[in-house]
Amino acid sequence: MSDNIFYEYLNKGSLFVNKNKISPHYVPEKLPFRDEQIKELSLWLSPALKKEKPHNIFIYGKVGTGKTSAVRHVVNQLDSISKENNLCLYTLYLNCRNYQTKHAILFYCVQSFYPDKNFVGYSKSFIYDKFITFLKENELNFVVILDEIDKIKDREIDDLIYTLSRSNDELGVGSSVSMIGISNNLFFMSRLDPRTKSSLCEQEAVYPPYNAEELKEILKQRVSLTFKENVVLDSAINSAAAMAAKESGDARTALMLLLKAGEIADMNKKDFVTDKEVHLAKDKVEHEIIRSMVLTLPVQLQLVLLAITERSESPKGILKIDGSYEENVLYSGEIYDTYIVVSNKYGEKPVSMRWFREYINELEAYGFISTTQSGKGVKGNTTLIKLGVDSKSIKDLLEKEFNV
Ligand SMILES: Nc1ncnc2c1ncn2[C@@H]1O[C@H](COP(=O)(O)OP(=O)(O)O)[C@@H](O)[C@H]1O
Ligand SMILES: [Mg+2]
Repeated sequence: MSDNIFYEYLNKGSLFVNKNKISPHYVPEKLPFRDEQIKELSLWLSPALKKEKPHNIFIYGKVGTGKTSAVRHVVNQLDSISKENNLCLYTLYLNCRNYQTKHAILFYCVQSFYPDKNFVGYSKSFIYDKFITFLKENELNFVVILDEIDKIKDREIDDLIYTLSRSNDELGVGSSVSMIGISNNLFFMSRLDPRTKSSLCEQEAVYPPYNAEELKEILKQRVSLTFKENVVLDSAINSAAAMAAKESGDARTALMLLLKAGEIADMNKKDFVTDKEVHLAKDKVEHEIIRSMVLTLPVQLQLVLLAITERSESPKGILKIDGSYEENVLYSGEIYDTYIVVSNKYGEKPVSMRWFREYINELEAYGFISTTQSGKGVKGNTTLIKLGVDSKSIKDLLEKEFNV
């Protein structure tokens, strides 16, 4: 027998047959409970089949409600029918986390139009000209999918949408530009200029969270692709579905729970994945979820959150007017001051107090903080803020994000 330390892993069986199929990047061929959404998407994009401009579409909903998967699924199908029938269609998916300005997005488009050329260093107007010329010369209907569109910088978004929709005037007949915007942020739309809103949201859809029964079905389908037969017990599926439904109705959380549970079972050389492994997976997954929630917040919200975590390092207790004592609370005014310092430090223009209050409401809606009114007596009537998540780990995460 070999004494190589890897020998035991080489021969060790795994409960997985294809782990990739449970990863967040895998686009499933079937998306149960999204038939309607898929149908409406295909209807909105169908003008492309007649070489006409598809509608602009805006889709929003909480994380893990199948937005990205549904859009990619439909666009993949559109691409393949377009290839079969020589339609003049060009689709391009991009995640705005990686392209946060108008120029970065146009640059990415042009670079993808001309993969053999290198456009680094060319002026913005040159890039825009190339963008138009390519579509015009090839008579293309272009559909750009702007996933996580709320990640585009506040001051860029109106300009981007305006430029993309205006480009249709320049293109004239024969070619067009359409966009599909996707957002995990439920408040994004309220931040848009009314003109931007009406042009982006020509058609819009909100994807609802899944309930426990739906999550069970989604998990069952995925288990059959990912794990060996009969190794994942119903108890595991039920627990993962129930946990995810209770937290958020998010299919990603449910799938991640099963993935980690499977890994735990493998590590412990178990023959089955049971609810026990799912419970063990819960902490790890929760940490992961908070992390990705923080990273998917729009930059301004991240800055407010960072200011809150900085302030939380020296929290004060407050004696309220009714005589009760609140521990670890912060005044919204002092957070605003810190927020301005933090924004300047990272080169972002701070927003006004009015927008800042909106952001505080958003952070509360996402469950990062809780707020109460002080009641008269403490500095007039001010909003008191309490952080609901671990301050240190979020601060580290955000500082890393801003320092790249
Ligand atoms: N209806 C569904 N059926 C099967 N898997 C789904 C469904 N909805 C979401 N998923 C899975 O859940 C995860 C999150 O979905 P995703 O489309 O990324 O959500 P969103 O973009 O809304 O955050 C992905 O792994 C995806 O495959
Ligand atoms: Mg998504």
